[in-house]
Amino acid sequence: MTVPVIIDCDPGHDDALALLLAAGDPRLRLLGVTTVAGNQTLDKTTRNAQRMLALAGASAVPVAAGCDRPLVGELDVAADIHGESGLDGPDLDVPVAPVAGEHAVELMRGLIADSPEPVTLIPTGPLTNVAMLLRTHPAARRNLRRIVLMGGSTARGNTTPYGEFNIVTDPEAADVVLRSGLPVTMVGLNVTHQALATPEVIAGFRAIGTRLGDVCADLMVFFAGAYLRTFGIPHPPVHDPIAVAAVIDPSLVRTVTAPVAVELAGAYTRGATVVDLHHRTGRPAATEVAVGLDVDRFWPLLRAAVTNLG
Ligand code: BDR
Ligand code: CA
Repeated sequence: MTVPVIIDCDPGHDDALALLLAAGDPRLRLLGVTTVAGNQTLDKTTRNAQRMLALAGASAVPVAAGCDRPLVGELDVAADIHGESGLDGPDLDVPVAPVAGEHAVELMRGLIADSPEPVTLIPTGPLTNVAMLLRTHPAARRNLRRIVLMGGSTARGNTTPYGEFNIVTDPEAADVVLRSGLPVTMVGLNVTHQALATPEVIAGFRAIGTRLGDVCADLMVFFAGAYLRTFGIPHPPVHDPIAVAAVIDPSLVRTVTAPVAVELAGAYTRGATVVDLHHRTGRPAATEVAVGLDVDRFWPLLRAAVTNLG
């Protein structure tokens, strides 16, 4: 029995690894990939998703481009972290399959409606497409099993002192998703910062001995440089695949149920996820919040997926 999933992403080095994990792990059925503007502009994130699927031998998975800017305000890309292409570092020269002729929201709606089993949505970028789906096609909710997103934090941020990139980029969209009433699991920086691509981890991907293994290693090497320059962190956290891993094997991630609100107005904290871990506010506890990660089991999972893809 495989779990049908859709990845909504903005590749992005760690999104690229999330795509490989979803395409290569036998427990998931990757129905489609939708792209959003975030780490880079929409044309670049879409091209990057096409390239990663082509390199993974998964060009048959449909790709559709979605929203090219947040619901409110301007797009502020993360070229400092992901480079001008959004996936700087490896050689990604590969012929790609064309993108679907429909908008990402329409592709998601169709895939969800046609799925015999409820679909799990895994957003690893700003939540613009997902919010648009929930607002424009509320019937899609009926065949959505849950949303497992990478975003937010129970502690501090990475884009502003209290804001994480995916939520800060489109706080209104995150607010729609977190208040949707659907089962949502939030995999935030507090856990993704445990999955660090150390030199040993990178060597493990190089040792696979395939082009894809080298692509993973080169992605992590570029990411390491960017994290060192920007944050002074020598080993970069590989955020997005943790959300995919949490779907493959929920026992990898420990969660607690807590109220989560998105700060939409704060003078210094717009886009912060305000997580009431101690239930002090009396707000309803509606979000599963990741608080722990079995990192020793995570890396072999990702390596096995990349190895499977050949
Ligand atoms: C998130 O922001 C992006 O830069 C990464 O791809 C990840 O989804 C981490 O804050
Ligand atoms: Ca991302």
